[in-house]
Amino acid sequence: MKSRSYNIAVVPGDGTGPEVVQEGIKVLNAVSKKLDFTLSFTHFPLGGEHYQKTGELLSETTLAALKQSDAIYLGAIGHPDITPGILEKGILLTMRFALDQYINLRPIKLYEGVETPIKDKGPQDIDFVIVRENTEGLYTGAGGYLKKGTPDEVAVQESINTRKGVERCIRYAFEYCRQRNKAKKLTLCGKTNVLTYAFDLWKRTFEEVSREYPDITTDYAHVDAICMWMVKNPEWFDVIVTDNMFGDIISDLAAMIQGGMGIAAGGNIHPEGVSMFEPIGGSAPKYTGMGVINPIAAILAGQLMLQTLGETQAAQWIEKAVAKVLKNDLKSASAGKMGCSTSEVGDLIVAFIDSL
Ligand code: IPM
Ligand code: MN
Repeated sequence: MKSRSYNIAVVPGDGTGPEVVQEGIKVLNAVSKKLDFTLSFTHFPLGGEHYQKTGELLSETTLAALKQSDAIYLGAIGHPDITPGILEKGILLTMRFALDQYINLRPIKLYEGVETPIKDKGPQDIDFVIVRENTEGLYTGAGGYLKKGTPDEVAVQESINTRKGVERCIRYAFEYCRQRNKAKKLTLCGKTNVLTYAFDLWKRTFEEVSREYPDITTDYAHVDAICMWMVKNPEWFDVIVTDNMFGDIISDLAAMIQGGMGIAAGGNIHPEGVSMFEPIGGSAPKYTGMGVINPIAAILAGQLMLQTLGETQAAQWIEKAVAKVLKNDLKSASAGKMGCSTSEVGDLIVAFIDSL
């Protein structure tokens, strides 16, 4: 009898999203079959095209349905003909806020066989995790215009940081760092020398919570210094915790040093609620339908989803298969240079899982 079963809401989205999600589902099905748990997938057509056709970004009805799922698996949202901000705010950010997915988790790992632009650094040097606050900061939409369109125009965009929001994020990071059990070092990334209110709250909260985690070494660095060290000494990092905007920026820098968007996956997590997992690379409209995109980012998003759902063994097997294929089978992790197609990468990973 199959005891564990999960309802997964699938949002393939725009551009190359559907092609990579298809490979992710292939891998998820392979691993669930081997390890005897059930995944039921329900597709939701959200995205740019759906918006153009129906006017829906993310309706209350769809949100209610998403809330019924165990997790959400997303491909990509983004459309070249739609004004920037509409889909991002209307779908992605609305989902994060409505489901209170207060953690954006971004594992950064350079796998063997993957090229990094950082000279003289290898897999032993690049292995850390960014814990980004995902519901506050500059992303809340607080602010506004005065005298818009006149020479006296004023635009204000406020960073909202609540004690509760900051503390739950920092606590998550400490717990994560403890469970990860690597260097057991948590670095707070801030800007206490300029943003003296927001990051004073962050730093005080960090120091207070740290007293409950005597086994974790703590460190602090300004965001600009983090960018510098990430390129020069990435091996210094184990877990980094930071606010929404800084987390967004350093995540892309980190994605590049792990081999690029073909590898980078992320989770938008509510630890007790419904979380969403996605490759962070975007919809790549010019590559749509060509079968050249690396689906590994989407596959690793699936891996992160299973990890979060508690299917640890399945998550380990996916990671093992990904590591093997990156090391032995792909010429490169970059789009169009892999030496095989999007679906062939999925097939290679499935074949390895089947052999376990
Ligand atoms: C990300 C993305 C989003 C963000 C955009 C698409 C709104 O860049 O998930 O990092 O800024 O959070
Ligand atoms: Mn981003």
